[in-house]
Amino acid sequence: MVFEPGKIKGMVTRNRFVRSATYDGLAERDGRVSAGQMRLYADMADGGVGLIVSGIACVHPGGRISPVQNSIAGDEFTPGLQRLTRAVHDRGAKIALQLFHGGREAKYIKTRNAVPLAPSVVEADPYYEGVHRAMTEDEIREVVAAFGDGAQRARIAGFDAVQVHGAHAYLLSQFLSPHTNRRQDEWGGSMDNRLRLHREIYSDIRRKAGPDYPVLIKLGVEDGFPGGLRFAEGKQAALRLAELGFDALEISQGLRGERYEGTEYRARIDAPDREAYNRAWCREIKARVNVPVMLGGGLRTLSLMEEIVQDQEADFVSLCRPLICEPGLINEWRAGRDKKARYLSCNNCVKMIFKGKPARCIHSPAEKDPGTAVLV
Ligand SMILES: Cc1cc2nc3c(=O)[nH]c(=O)nc-3n(C[C@H](O)[C@H](O)[C@H](O)COP(=O)(O)O)c2cc1C
Repeated sequence: MVFEPGKIKGMVTRNRFVRSATYDGLAERDGRVSAGQMRLYADMADGGVGLIVSGIACVHPGGRISPVQNSIAGDEFTPGLQRLTRAVHDRGAKIALQLFHGGREAKYIKTRNAVPLAPSVVEADPYYEGVHRAMTEDEIREVVAAFGDGAQRARIAGFDAVQVHGAHAYLLSQFLSPHTNRRQDEWGGSMDNRLRLHREIYSDIRRKAGPDYPVLIKLGVEDGFPGGLRFAEGKQAALRLAELGFDALEISQGLRGERYEGTEYRARIDAPDREAYNRAWCREIKARVNVPVMLGGGLRTLSLMEEIVQDQEADFVSLCRPLICEPGLINEWRAGRDKKARYLSCNNCVKMIFKGKPARCIHSPAEKDPGTAVLV
């Protein structure tokens, strides 16, 4: 079943494999698409994946976490993104743009003497040390509008869909988590209020990108440490967002705890019971919603993915690190090679991005033989 077409609203994918959003550290320093990214995305599309979710694209300059990150915060970024979507479409894959704001993690703006924005200030946070300040109501509204504008530009640039980044350490997770959201106004307190930002962003995107445009969300349903968001609430949030109109949910983790076990990219996926570590969350949510659900996190074995889709625990399976290592993996699987992904879960690619370097895999065969895709 994983090789059968999938559908999200009007978007039809050639199979159920998704390249989970992956920041590559390869964008031009002004946020435009680089030649390296053109090669990377073309290789990925050539490799057989059905849907590629881009790496984090900043909707607002105040949300940048890296100087070599893509941006969608202005019309000047559209031509490069247009070339990127064309290269992917020419190779038979679909592509979604991941809309992003880093919130308090937007450290890159700090180097220009601006302070990163967060729902609230958390003093002596054991999980985060950076300076940040609480957003004003006007600043929240500005960010909401920036998500809508980003989606409108994404559509013009040829993206088949957008995915709102509502997971991991970033702004939307910071609003949903009771650990980071201590606001006493209508943006904080009850789960309903902590989810207001998500709802407002959805409405603004829908209004600007159109009623037929697929709008996805990657949602962190539990934080990686005690005292943060718990799954009982995260699940309710997922159900509410599906009801509201999001066209697909990708299930992931919320705020990060201990590295790496309390993060979205766990290491040492070296035994069958370490694989598919978000599976139980996904299964529970999938049973209660009417929109497609994507499961990512530690997927390495084809037969396990087949089982997950067959048993309707998820409609799509998403992979990140295995495809950094082997962009052609899906075609190999399709050709009947039931090999395990080569990727060892060493997290060298994660260490690279923390050092400000591009996300590469030292175990990748392509490291010795870099791709030579011819681009349009
Ligand atoms: C180098 C790297 C970059 C990532 N960049 C993003 C990103 O831009 N957006 C996002 O939502 N998740 C990002 N992730 C998380 C992945 O999409 C995925 O959720 C996680 O790695 C677990 O899947 P995996 O076991 O297949 O790697 C990144 C992960 C890695 C290793």
